Amino acid sequence: MFSEPRTRERALTVAVVGATGVVGRTMIQVLSERNFPVGELRLLASGRSAGSTVSAAGRTLTVGEATPDAFEGVDIALFSAGSEVSLQLAPEAAVRGATVIDNSNAWRMEANVPLIVSQVNPQDAEWHEGIIANPNCSTMQLAPVLMAIRDKAGIERVIVDTYQSVSGTGADALAELETQVRAHVAGEMKVASVYPHPIAFNALPEIDVFLENGYTREEWKVVSECRKILHLPDLRVSCTAVRVPVFVSHSEAVHVETTRSLSPEEARKIFAAVPGVVVQDDPSTHLYPLATQAAGKDEIFVGRIRKDPSVDRGLAFWVVSDNLRKGAATNAVEIAEMLVERGWVSARSRRTAPSTAIGVGEAS
Ligand SMILES: NC(=O)c1ccc[n+]([C@@H]2O[C@H](COP(=O)([O-])OP(=O)(O)OC[C@H]3O[C@@H](n4cnc5c(N)ncnc54)[C@H](OP(=O)(O)O)[C@@H]3O)[C@@H](O)[C@H]2O)c1
Repeated sequence: MFSEPRTRERALTVAVVGATGVVGRTMIQVLSERNFPVGELRLLASGRSAGSTVSAAGRTLTVGEATPDAFEGVDIALFSAGSEVSLQLAPEAAVRGATVIDNSNAWRMEANVPLIVSQVNPQDAEWHEGIIANPNCSTMQLAPVLMAIRDKAGIERVIVDTYQSVSGTGADALAELETQVRAHVAGEMKVASVYPHPIAFNALPEIDVFLENGYTREEWKVVSECRKILHLPDLRVSCTAVRVPVFVSHSEAVHVETTRSLSPEEARKIFAAVPGVVVQDDPSTHLYPLATQAAGKDEIFVGRIRKDPSVDRGLAFWVVSDNLRKGAATNAVEIAEMLVERGWVSARSRRTAPSTAIGVGEAS
């Protein structure tokens, strides 16, 4: 159940935009699990789903249509309905006083929009002007581990190859993988509609559109988002993003060239010290992070930590996390929690007005 608001907190009106999608549903679940102080929960989607119902925390809630007026009175709006919807409606929500935490690619690289991984750069949320961006799921699980290396040994160069699950594309892709697996078992043709080729029993090196430089936009998101989150604007990063027939959790093979030497033993220690990061690394017992075991969990799992002998100061490792939870919903809710704790729910320009400030640390 959603929590009864604690005495010193005002219960917040929270909107979930894209509430019928896989990320939106996970957001509703995570809000409930973490007892986020929700007064009213407003579930929004397109006109197609308006009037349908979604079960949330033991209650059945009716979905409304996401229109500008639907954000009247909203404190926090969690958006996961794609870039077009975010471009159109996030400013409408913000102008009505809501703080938007946006999961799409629409606002991430705007200079006045903080791009936040909760355990890496929470302080950047302080200067938000009404929209905060949640990073791409591939960047999300990588940034906390890179932060640890940056702080201990410095980073010269990063190469990351991703193995991304179909839930990263949404509900239609989950259904497509399942249908193709059933078709294969039945000896029937595998029809592809979400992806350009069958995803079942395949690996597709194409996620999002191709750019002029030969990379895909998904790959370039990892490059530019890592630079912004880690405050390393010149960080050298190269990425190959691959869709694989896994339902939930993204895996990544990462190679980092460090400025100062960093042994695998030291790396295990500094990774384990990052909140939300768990080291699973014992080859003798076949212990390493697995997509199936990370699914449903909030942590980022790291293993296969070893020296990369192909460069002077190289480290190689394997990172796995649930793309729907830490990669999307959990980080968004963690940002919302941090805004409440630090009194930053309102945009900085509005924070001086006592009537709109919501800081839980303030005397009531
Ligand atoms: N999946 C991931 O791992 C992941 C991770 C990070 C970020 N994201 C981002 O999160 C967003 C949603 O992803 P998803 O995986 O949840 O997709 P999804 O399962 O396909 O769900 C899409 C949601 O968006 C809603 N929607 C579509 N058009 C709309 C419109 N015009 N107005 C209002 N709502 C509309 C849909 O509502 P209807 O039911 O009305 O169609 C549905 O609730 C995307 O921006 C994606 O890039 C996803």
